[in-house]
Amino acid sequence: RVLSGADRYDIVQREVTAEILPGVTTRLWTYGGSFPGPTIESRRGQPITVAHRNELPVPSVVHLHGGRTPPASDGYPTDLVVPAGWNDMGHGMHDPRAVTSTVTRTYTYPLDQRPTLLWYHDHRMDFTAPAVWRGLAGMQVVRDDAEEALGLPSGAYELPLMIADRAFAADGSLDYPSIDPTLMMQPGVKEPYIAGVLGDVVLVNGAPWPVREVDTVRYRLRILNASNARHYDLEAVLDDGRRLDLVQIGADQGLLHTPVTHRNLPIAPAERYDVILDFGRVPVGSMVRIVNRLGSGRTRDVLAFHVVRKSADPSRIPDVLSDDLPEWKRSDAVRVRDFSFRAGQMGDGHGWLIGGRPFAPDRTDVTTRLGDVEIWRLVADVHHPVHLHLAGFRILSRDGGDPLPHDAGLKDTVSLRPGESAELITRFDGYRGRYLFHCHNAEHEDMGMMANLEIT
Ligand code: C2O
Ligand code: CU
Ligand code: CU
Repeated sequence: RVLSGADRYDIVQREVTAEILPGVTTRLWTYGGSFPGPTIESRRGQPITVAHRNELPVPSVVHLHGGRTPPASDGYPTDLVVPAGWNDMGHGMHDPRAVTSTVTRTYTYPLDQRPTLLWYHDHRMDFTAPAVWRGLAGMQVVRDDAEEALGLPSGAYELPLMIADRAFAADGSLDYPSIDPTLMMQPGVKEPYIAGVLGDVVLVNGAPWPVREVDTVRYRLRILNASNARHYDLEAVLDDGRRLDLVQIGADQGLLHTPVTHRNLPIAPAERYDVILDFGRVPVGSMVRIVNRLGSGRTRDVLAFHVVRKSADPSRIPDVLSDDLPEWKRSDAVRVRDFSFRAGQMGDGHGWLIGGRPFAPDRTDVTTRLGDVEIWRLVADVHHPVHLHLAGFRILSRDGGDPLPHDAGLKDTVSLRPGESAELITRFDGYRGRYLFHCHNAEHEDMGMMANLEIT
């Protein structure tokens, strides 16, 4: 479902039952009755408001991931949308005094930003992972005239693809293990306490292993990894074992300067990749499978394209895609900060910590000034996809060396691999106020790996 053309949308968050796996039904928490929620089509610089009404059994919070959004609409984890009649005291919030709540919350998105694929998802304190798992995720596209003038594949040849793994019980219900953080570091206890919660069914736009009929033309795949914790390494494989190139044209925060060609493309939770797949020389009748090189069995297959029609290709891929990428230099930075992303002690148990501390909504971890350029040096113990709200960044280095080919462009999430360090550079502009940065492994996030950034 697509919403477009209006400046205000009303979304009711409600439970529905749907048939995801054949023959059984699954109860979902949804934005507007579907998983994923409706895809919102929007234009750069044309503000929209989205009014969310909560008819779920639990409070919720909506965050537009990748949006340049004022703090009041950014979905701070204690800015709740509560179900009608809900009493928010005594429901496990850390500091009830800091909680603001409404039954319907109206979010304002100025969308004064580069065109890209954004996504909206739940962000409630300590409860993001189970809420997203149950279905609270949707996509939003920002477009502008300059991008449309490039002649990239569009219309039926442009496919937003939300990839998310889930586990199902025999009766079709979603299986989400409850996580006891005190178990996390015990020997032998690995998943979900270390890796986060993984499913064994890969859904694309809510359907398991879909097959899509395509023409012999280029397609623009706008890929989002909306999984709680699963990493993918995607490749496109033909029947005869040959691989098609994945031509990357964009990153989390919009188009690259020039296309980058990949044989395979790793994608961490919350990352987006804008990729051209060219079926132009694929014989009609062939299947092209998108497989996950990190998976096996049911987590290896992601989706397939069945080439069914010969067609002339109306699209083109220009050599220069965009000219407006920020090019911050090291010498522009007014400060360098260091952050470790590691497991550690938290209260009586264990959790996931940034700089040795678990998230506290009432503590400011970082203060910066509007307009300042900073370098952030991050270091990880295990795999952590680190996400910064509001400000897109460039990746300067990994482990002291060059970034990887898929680090090109403007990002809002960087996949730190086990034991790895990385340097980011960004400029904090847009709005003053309180924002978050955190690990986007949703279980790590809920278990403390989040921090506050105050822009003054
Ligand atoms: Cu995708 Cu803070 O979130
Ligand atoms: Cu975000
Ligand atoms: Cu993490």
